Amino acid sequence: MKNRGFADVLIGLQYGDEGKAKVIDLIAKNYHIIARFNGGANAGHTIETEKFRVALHQIPSGIFYKDKILYIGSGCVVDISKMIEEIGMVEKLGISLKNRLYISDQTSIVQPHHVLVDIHTAGKIGTTKNGIGPAYADKAMRMVNGRHVNIKLGELIDNPALFDHIKKNLERKIEKHNATGYEVTKIIDTLKKDLKNLMPYVQRDTLFLQKLVDGGKNVLFEGAQSIMLDITKGLVPYVTSSSTVAGAAFVGGDLPVNYHRKTIGVAKAIMSRVGNGPFVSEFGGKKSEEYCKDPTHNKNYEKQNYDTYKMLASDNQFDVGVALRILGNEYGTVTKRPRRIGMMDLVQLAFAVKTNGVDEIFLTKCDLLVDFIKTKSKKIPVVSEYILNSKTIDYVPGSNTLYAKVKVKTTDFESFTEDLSKITLWGKLPKQLLTLLGAIEEKTGCGFLGIGVGSKRKQFILEQKG
Ligand code: IMP
Repeated sequence: MKNRGFADVLIGLQYGDEGKAKVIDLIAKNYHIIARFNGGANAGHTIETEKFRVALHQIPSGIFYKDKILYIGSGCVVDISKMIEEIGMVEKLGISLKNRLYISDQTSIVQPHHVLVDIHTAGKIGTTKNGIGPAYADKAMRMVNGRHVNIKLGELIDNPALFDHIKKNLERKIEKHNATGYEVTKIIDTLKKDLKNLMPYVQRDTLFLQKLVDGGKNVLFEGAQSIMLDITKGLVPYVTSSSTVAGAAFVGGDLPVNYHRKTIGVAKAIMSRVGNGPFVSEFGGKKSEEYCKDPTHNKNYEKQNYDTYKMLASDNQFDVGVALRILGNEYGTVTKRPRRIGMMDLVQLAFAVKTNGVDEIFLTKCDLLVDFIKTKSKKIPVVSEYILNSKTIDYVPGSNTLYAKVKVKTTDFESFTEDLSKITLWGKLPKQLLTLLGAIEEKTGCGFLGIGVGSKRKQFILEQKG
C-alpha cells in the first residue's frame, strides 16, 4: 500500500511512572493517533501544561492536541463508570472528546466484582486496586458456572441480558468475601446509565485503526505500566496482569506487526517502584520496601516529619532515598503511596532496551540528579554490574529467588551544580551529565531522543543528531 502510515511504540523501561505521558505530550504532534494497547485505570499518566495538571488513567495522553485521534485498543480493560468520570474531567477542561475518542468494542469490561476482588485479595502484590488483575483473569476464565465472567464492551451493548451476569458475578463475590456496603441494584443501574453515555465512543468497526493507517495516518502506541511489570517477562507475582512489552502493542493495539517503525523507551534518571517486588538498586533496600508499604507515609507525612537536606547528606541509604522521594515528589498518581526510590540501574536498562528492541531512549527527571551534590559523597551512584555466583551477568534473572542472589556493583559519576531547567541545548549540558549520558549510550547501545529537565511541558532537551 503506497501511502500507508506507520506505528511507533512508546514504552516504559523500568517499573512504571517514568513520565511516559509527558514524552507523549511532547511528540504527539508527529502522529495522527495516540493509542493504548494494555492495562486500564491502573495507569496514572500525568501531563502538566501551562494551564493544567491532568492525571489520565484510561484515556490516551494526546488529549491536548485537538486534532489527534485517541484510540483504546482491544487489549485494554475498560471500567465503564471510571471512563465516564474521566471523560467528564477532561471535558471540564474545555477539551472535547466527541469524534476523537474511540474505544474498541472488543475491550473487556472491568466489572464491579473485579474491583471488589482486587480490594480483598491483592495486598501481597500491592496492586492499585482497580480490578485489573481479576478482569484479565476472568478474560482467560471466560465462563464460570454458566455465567459470563469476561464480557466485552460490544457484547454488553448488543446483549443487555449480560447485565444479569454482571449482577450475579457481583453477588457471588460479595458473599464469598463477606463484603459490606454494596448496593447491587444501584451499582447495576449506574452501570447501565454509564454504558449508554459511553456508547458514542465505542467503535464497532474492528478494522477501524488499520483502515486509518492504511489511509496514511501514523500511530503512536502508548504503553502503560512498563516492561519490568510485564505479566510474562516480569517477576511474578510482582507484576501487572497485562503484557507491557513493545511487541504487545501489535496484539492489544489492533494493528499487524509489519506496520511498526520504531520503539521509544522512557526511563527515569532516579528510579522508582510502587508496590512490592524486587528492586535491586533501591536506596535502603528491604527497609525502604517495608516502609513504603504503609500508605500513611505519604507526601504530607514525610514533609512534616523529615528534614530533607539533613537526610540527603546522611550516611544512611534509607535516609537518602526518603530525601530523594520528597525532592522528586515521588508519590503514586493513582494510590498516593510513597514510591520506592533507587539508583539508575544500567544493567536492567540495557536488558530492557535489548529485549524490547528499543531504538531511542528518553531519560526523564534529569534535573533531579542535581540533588546528589548535596549527598555525603557528592557523587551520582548507578548500578553498573550484576554478579551472580561470582560471574558477571548481563540479564535480569527470570526468577525472584535467583534475582535475590544477585550482588550489584555500583559506579560513581561526578555530580553537577547547574540548574538544568535553564538549559535548552544538548551541547550546553554540564560535562558531568554528558559523561553519564555517554555511559548510558555505551552500556545500552542505544542513543537518546532527549532528556527531561523539569515537570513543565517545555522542560526537555532533544539530543542533536549528527
Ligand atoms: P495492578 O496493575 O493494579 O494489578 O498492580 C500490579 C502492580 O503493578 C503493583 O505493584 C502496582 O503498583 C503496579 N502498577 C500498576 N500500574 C502502575 C503504573 O501505572 N505505574 C507504576 N506501577 C504500576
